[in-house]
Amino acid sequence: MDQKIHILGFAGSLRKQSYNKAILAAAVETVLDDASLEVFDLEGIPPFNQDLELQPPDEVKDFKARIRAADAILIATPEYNYSIPGVLKNAIDWASRPYGDNAFDGKPVAVMGASVGTLGTARAQYDLRRSFVFLNMLPVNQPEVMVSFAQDKVDGNGRVTDENTRRKIKELLKSLVAWARRTKLAEQMETKKLAA
Ligand code: FNR
Repeated sequence: MDQKIHILGFAGSLRKQSYNKAILAAAVETVLDDASLEVFDLEGIPPFNQDLELQPPDEVKDFKARIRAADAILIATPEYNYSIPGVLKNAIDWASRPYGDNAFDGKPVAVMGASVGTLGTARAQYDLRRSFVFLNMLPVNQPEVMVSFAQDKVDGNGRVTDENTRRKIKELLKSLVAWARRTKLAEQMETKKLAA
Protein backbone atom coordinates (compact mmCIF):
# COMPACT_ATOMS: atom_id res chain seq x y z
CA MET A 1 0.00 0.00 0.00
CA ASP A 2 1.81 3.12 -1.15
CA GLN A 3 -1.20 5.41 -1.55
CA LYS A 4 -0.90 8.70 0.28
CA ILE A 5 -3.51 9.28 2.99
CA HIS A 6 -5.16 12.69 2.80
CA ILE A 7 -6.23 14.16 6.14
CA LEU A 8 -8.52 17.14 6.68
CA GLY A 9 -7.88 18.94 9.97
CA PHE A 10 -9.83 21.68 11.71
CA ALA A 11 -9.71 23.42 15.07
CA GLY A 12 -12.75 24.36 17.13
CA SER A 13 -11.45 27.87 17.77
CA LEU A 14 -11.58 31.01 15.65
CA ARG A 15 -9.01 32.82 17.80
CA LYS A 16 -5.91 34.02 15.94
CA GLN A 17 -3.57 32.96 18.78
CA SER A 18 -5.51 29.73 19.40
CA TYR A 19 -3.54 26.93 21.09
CA ASN A 20 -5.66 24.43 19.18
CA LYS A 21 -4.70 26.03 15.88
CA ALA A 22 -1.11 25.78 17.16
CA ILE A 23 -1.30 22.03 17.79
CA LEU A 24 -2.88 21.60 14.36
CA ALA A 25 0.03 23.56 12.86
CA ALA A 26 2.42 21.25 14.75
CA ALA A 27 0.60 18.30 13.17
CA VAL A 28 1.17 19.80 9.72
CA GLU A 29 4.88 20.13 10.53
CA THR A 30 5.19 16.56 11.78
CA VAL A 31 3.09 14.71 9.21
CA LEU A 32 5.16 12.05 7.43
CA ASP A 33 5.62 11.63 3.67
CA ASP A 34 2.94 8.94 3.49
CA ALA A 35 0.22 11.50 4.24
CA SER A 36 -0.89 15.06 3.63
CA LEU A 37 -2.72 17.31 6.07
CA GLU A 38 -4.96 20.14 4.85
CA VAL A 39 -6.18 22.65 7.43
CA PHE A 40 -9.69 24.04 7.15
CA ASP A 41 -10.67 27.19 9.07
CA LEU A 42 -14.20 27.16 10.50
CA GLU A 43 -14.37 30.98 10.26
CA GLY A 44 -17.24 31.83 7.92
CA ILE A 45 -19.46 28.85 8.71
CA PRO A 46 -22.75 30.54 9.70
CA PRO A 47 -24.98 29.39 12.58
CA PHE A 48 -26.87 26.24 11.69
CA ASN A 49 -30.42 26.76 10.53
CA GLN A 50 -32.38 23.65 9.67
CA ASP A 51 -34.56 25.66 7.27
CA LEU A 52 -31.49 25.94 5.05
CA GLU A 53 -30.13 22.40 5.30
CA LEU A 54 -31.37 21.40 1.82
CA GLN A 55 -29.72 24.49 0.27
CA PRO A 56 -26.74 25.08 2.55
CA PRO A 57 -24.50 28.15 2.24
CA ASP A 58 -21.45 27.84 -0.04
CA GLU A 59 -19.06 27.68 2.94
CA VAL A 60 -20.88 24.58 4.16
CA LYS A 61 -20.93 22.98 0.70
CA ASP A 62 -17.18 23.55 0.51
CA PHE A 63 -16.61 22.11 4.00
CA LYS A 64 -18.64 18.99 3.19
CA ALA A 65 -16.83 18.48 -0.12
CA ARG A 66 -13.46 18.68 1.65
CA ILE A 67 -14.57 16.19 4.29
CA ARG A 68 -15.73 13.79 1.58
CA ALA A 69 -12.46 14.14 -0.34
CA ALA A 70 -10.43 13.27 2.77
CA ASP A 71 -9.41 9.76 3.84
CA ALA A 72 -9.37 10.83 7.48
CA ILE A 73 -10.28 13.72 9.77
CA LEU A 74 -8.23 15.34 12.55
CA ILE A 75 -10.04 17.59 15.04
CA ALA A 76 -8.31 19.88 17.54
CA THR A 77 -10.87 20.93 20.11
CA PRO A 78 -10.73 23.48 22.90
CA GLU A 79 -12.82 22.87 26.02
CA TYR A 80 -15.55 25.41 26.76
CA ASN A 81 -17.57 24.95 29.94
CA TYR A 82 -16.57 21.27 30.14
CA SER A 83 -17.66 20.53 26.56
CA ILE A 84 -16.82 21.34 22.96
CA PRO A 85 -17.15 24.94 21.69
CA GLY A 86 -20.32 25.95 19.86
CA VAL A 87 -18.27 26.80 16.78
CA LEU A 88 -17.14 23.19 16.46
CA LYS A 89 -20.53 21.68 17.25
CA ASN A 90 -22.15 24.05 14.76
CA ALA A 91 -19.79 22.98 11.94
CA ILE A 92 -20.31 19.30 12.75
CA ASP A 93 -24.08 19.77 12.75
CA TRP A 94 -24.00 21.38 9.28
CA ALA A 95 -21.78 18.66 7.83
CA SER A 96 -24.00 15.92 9.21
CA ARG A 97 -27.18 17.20 7.55
CA PRO A 98 -29.63 16.75 5.91
CA TYR A 99 -30.44 13.32 7.30
CA GLY A 100 -28.94 10.70 5.00
CA ASP A 101 -26.25 13.08 3.71
CA ASN A 102 -23.78 12.97 6.60
CA ALA A 103 -20.34 13.87 5.16
CA PHE A 104 -18.59 12.22 8.11
CA ASP A 105 -20.18 8.81 7.59
CA GLY A 106 -17.57 6.05 7.92
CA LYS A 107 -14.60 8.44 8.18
CA PRO A 108 -11.62 7.58 10.36
CA VAL A 109 -11.07 10.40 12.86
CA ALA A 110 -8.55 11.43 15.48
CA VAL A 111 -9.07 14.02 18.19
CA MET A 112 -6.67 16.14 20.21
CA GLY A 113 -7.03 19.30 22.23
CA ALA A 114 -5.27 22.03 24.16
CA SER A 115 -6.47 24.05 27.13
CA VAL A 116 -5.00 26.37 29.71
CA GLY A 117 -6.31 24.11 32.49
CA THR A 118 -5.07 20.91 34.09
CA LEU A 119 -7.14 18.37 32.17
CA GLY A 120 -6.19 19.43 28.64
CA THR A 121 -9.71 19.19 27.14
CA ALA A 122 -10.40 15.65 28.42
CA ARG A 123 -14.07 16.38 29.09
CA ALA A 124 -14.58 18.06 25.71
CA GLN A 125 -12.88 15.18 23.91
CA TYR A 126 -15.13 12.58 25.50
CA ASP A 127 -18.17 14.65 24.58
CA LEU A 128 -16.92 14.84 21.01
CA ARG A 129 -16.35 11.08 20.94
CA ARG A 130 -20.02 10.63 21.89
CA SER A 131 -21.02 12.48 18.71
CA PHE A 132 -18.77 10.16 16.68
CA VAL A 133 -21.20 7.35 17.55
CA PHE A 134 -24.16 9.00 15.86
CA LEU A 135 -21.99 10.37 13.05
CA ASN A 136 -20.78 6.79 12.41
CA MET A 137 -17.15 7.88 12.45
CA LEU A 138 -14.28 5.52 13.15
CA PRO A 139 -12.19 7.07 15.95
CA VAL A 140 -8.58 6.31 16.77
CA ASN A 141 -8.57 5.42 20.46
CA GLN A 142 -4.95 6.07 21.34
CA PRO A 143 -2.79 7.96 21.96
CA GLU A 144 -4.96 10.54 23.67
CA VAL A 145 -3.47 13.97 23.10
CA MET A 146 -4.64 16.27 25.89
CA VAL A 147 -2.42 19.30 26.10
CA SER A 148 -2.76 20.92 29.54
CA PHE A 149 -1.25 24.31 30.46
CA ALA A 150 -0.96 25.10 26.76
CA GLN A 151 0.27 28.61 27.56
CA ASP A 152 3.56 27.02 28.70
CA LYS A 153 3.94 24.84 25.59
CA VAL A 154 3.21 27.25 22.74
CA ASP A 155 5.30 30.33 22.04
CA GLY A 156 4.16 33.79 20.91
CA ASN A 157 4.39 32.77 17.26
CA GLY A 158 1.97 29.89 17.72
CA ARG A 159 4.71 27.24 17.61
CA VAL A 160 4.47 24.23 19.92
CA THR A 161 7.79 24.26 21.74
CA ASP A 162 7.20 21.35 24.11
CA GLU A 163 8.93 18.28 22.68
CA ASN A 164 6.71 15.79 24.51
CA THR A 165 3.61 17.42 23.00
CA ARG A 166 5.14 17.34 19.52
CA ARG A 167 6.01 13.65 19.95
CA LYS A 168 2.45 12.82 21.06
CA ILE A 169 0.96 14.66 18.07
CA LYS A 170 3.26 12.73 15.75
CA GLU A 171 2.20 9.42 17.36
CA LEU A 172 -1.46 10.35 16.93
CA LEU A 173 -0.93 11.14 13.25
CA LYS A 174 0.84 7.82 12.74
CA SER A 175 -2.07 5.98 14.36
CA LEU A 176 -4.58 7.90 12.26
CA VAL A 177 -2.74 7.18 9.01
CA ALA A 178 -2.40 3.47 9.86
CA TRP A 179 -6.08 3.32 10.80
CA ALA A 180 -7.18 5.13 7.62
CA ARG A 181 -5.04 2.79 5.53
CA ARG A 182 -6.67 -0.26 7.12
CA THR A 183 -10.13 1.20 6.57
CA LYS A 184 -9.35 2.01 2.93
CA LEU A 185 -7.95 -1.46 2.31
CA ALA A 186 -11.05 -3.06 3.84
CA GLU A 187 -13.28 -0.89 1.62
CA GLN A 188 -11.28 -1.78 -1.49
CA MET A 189 -11.48 -5.51 -0.67
CA GLU A 190 -15.23 -5.21 -0.12
CA THR A 191 -15.70 -3.43 -3.47
CA LYS A 192 -13.63 -6.11 -5.22
CA LYS A 193 -15.67 -8.87 -3.57
CA LEU A 194 -18.93 -7.24 -4.67
CA ALA A 195 -17.64 -6.85 -8.25
CA ALA A 196 -16.50 -10.50 -8.48
C1 FNR B 1 -12.72 28.34 28.54
N1 FNR B 1 -11.61 27.66 28.99
C2 FNR B 1 -11.75 26.42 29.59
N2 FNR B 1 -10.66 25.60 29.85
C3 FNR B 1 -10.84 24.37 30.38
O1 FNR B 1 -9.85 23.65 30.58
N3 FNR B 1 -12.08 23.90 30.67
C4 FNR B 1 -13.21 24.65 30.45
O2 FNR B 1 -14.30 24.19 30.70
C5 FNR B 1 -13.05 25.95 29.90
N4 FNR B 1 -14.14 26.73 29.64
C6 FNR B 1 -14.00 27.87 28.87
C7 FNR B 1 -15.14 28.55 28.41
C8 FNR B 1 -15.01 29.63 27.56
C9 FNR B 1 -16.24 30.28 26.99
C10 FNR B 1 -13.73 30.08 27.21
C11 FNR B 1 -13.57 31.28 26.28
C12 FNR B 1 -12.61 29.47 27.70
C13 FNR B 1 -10.25 28.17 28.73
C14 FNR B 1 -9.69 27.60 27.43
O3 FNR B 1 -8.96 26.43 27.74
C15 FNR B 1 -8.75 28.61 26.78
O4 FNR B 1 -9.46 29.81 26.51
C16 FNR B 1 -8.14 28.08 25.50
O5 FNR B 1 -7.09 28.95 25.15
C17 FNR B 1 -9.16 27.96 24.37
O6 FNR B 1 -8.61 27.34 23.24
P1 FNR B 1 -7.93 28.15 22.04
O7 FNR B 1 -8.82 29.27 21.60
O8 FNR B 1 -6.61 28.69 22.59
O9 FNR B 1 -7.69 27.13 20.98
